[in-house]
Amino acid sequence: MLSRENNELICRIGPRTAMGKAFRRFWVPALLSSELPAPDCDPRRVQLLGEDFVAFRDSDGKVGILDEYCCHRSASLALGRVEAGGIRCIYHGWKFAADGTVLETPNVADPRFKERFKAKAYPVREAGGLVWVYLGPAAQMPAFPRWPFFELTAAHLLPVYAVVNCNYVQIIEGLVDSSHLTVLHTAPLKSTGGSELDFAKKTEHLQFTAAPRIEAEETDFGFHYVAIRPVSENPADGSMARIASFVPPCFILNPNGDLFFAIVPVSDTRTLFFHVWWNADKKIGEEPLRSQQLEFVGLDQAALDAYGLSLRTCDSPQAACRGNNFLQDRQAQRNGHFTGLPSFTQEDAAVSMSGGAIRDRSKEILSVADVALPRLYRALLSCAKEAAEGRDPPGLYADTPNIVGVSGRLAPGLHWRTLAAQHKVIETASAA
Ligand code: FES
Ligand SMILES: [Fe+2]
Repeated sequence: MLSRENNELICRIGPRTAMGKAFRRFWVPALLSSELPAPDCDPRRVQLLGEDFVAFRDSDGKVGILDEYCCHRSASLALGRVEAGGIRCIYHGWKFAADGTVLETPNVADPRFKERFKAKAYPVREAGGLVWVYLGPAAQMPAFPRWPFFELTAAHLLPVYAVVNCNYVQIIEGLVDSSHLTVLHTAPLKSTGGSELDFAKKTEHLQFTAAPRIEAEETDFGFHYVAIRPVSENPADGSMARIASFVPPCFILNPNGDLFFAIVPVSDTRTLFFHVWWNADKKIGEEPLRSQQLEFVGLDQAALDAYGLSLRTCDSPQAACRGNNFLQDRQAQRNGHFTGLPSFTQEDAAVSMSGGAIRDRSKEILSVADVALPRLYRALLSCAKEAAEGRDPPGLYADTPNIVGVSGRLAPGLHWRTLAAQHKVIETASAA
């Protein structure tokens, strides 16, 4: 439960808000590298943290992210021409390099005019199939993170995102909430049987236990939490533990051990829900594995477009919303499907959006199944408050290469923490 005031504090991410200041201290993914597929390709409009930007790939392949509105008289650079080392505004032809250097101002005769100013440009890096950007104060830029999948080549990575029309915190809540899996995802989990996909094999057992034991611990990077399910009726057989790690303000390592999430606000009421699967052995970034995986979880382009979870369709009247009851298929439900929604992604998106664009947490009744949520609220509040005071938010210096999400079989008597022994625990709390 959170007071309305604290709810506002963690949910609002505009440039003048406390949480907005916190987010701007981190490197965050803005789009997929594949969305800028080649040098001098079409630029992309990018909205992040309540602000508008343009992303482009210059003739050398370098990605630039600039303020969307031209520093001359505000025409959108998303209409611009990407050519010969920069992006040219179509209004009066001013041309900018990826670092904001003004290359040409053809409507001004004085050749030195362009040396007097720069366009607002942001530091950009590409890693893990994603374009990352730092939107904060230059003097406070942290080291670039080293998430475990950054070393892999594109063939071994599967990055994708869904656009969800609700506040980012609602998406994160679903990712630190193991008990919903057995209920909300009843139908897609049943379909995992016999599938050869790693994701199916790793989640198949979840359909059998609706009330896992949940525990959470604060760590030096944020918190990790575990869902423990018995393997059989016999306690001597031990249990299955699934540990997820949350790194403020918006990063999660999934217990499957091969899946990273970044939950990046576009605005207060729209979120980019990034997933990156990685696999050093299998070419999951190539066909046929790529499409098989995406279709299995409802993240293929056709499924995203149909539900309004892509940038192309998230504003369309056909996008899932209250007005069309989130495209729920009641007939499918009557025929035995639990939710009447297409797949994992659409089920998660529907429940996240259905509570309202920014849900009210002042009336919620949390249970032992929700023990990760107070941790999440505390971590986000701490981010907002530290950033508002000009101090470093938690998570900023997380030892990213050593943070894991992990699952494993636990013999009786073995503590689940042994599966993530490298995590430094700050204190322990149990809801068991
Ligand atoms: S508004 Fe862009 S060059 Fe004038
Ligand atoms: Fe889910």
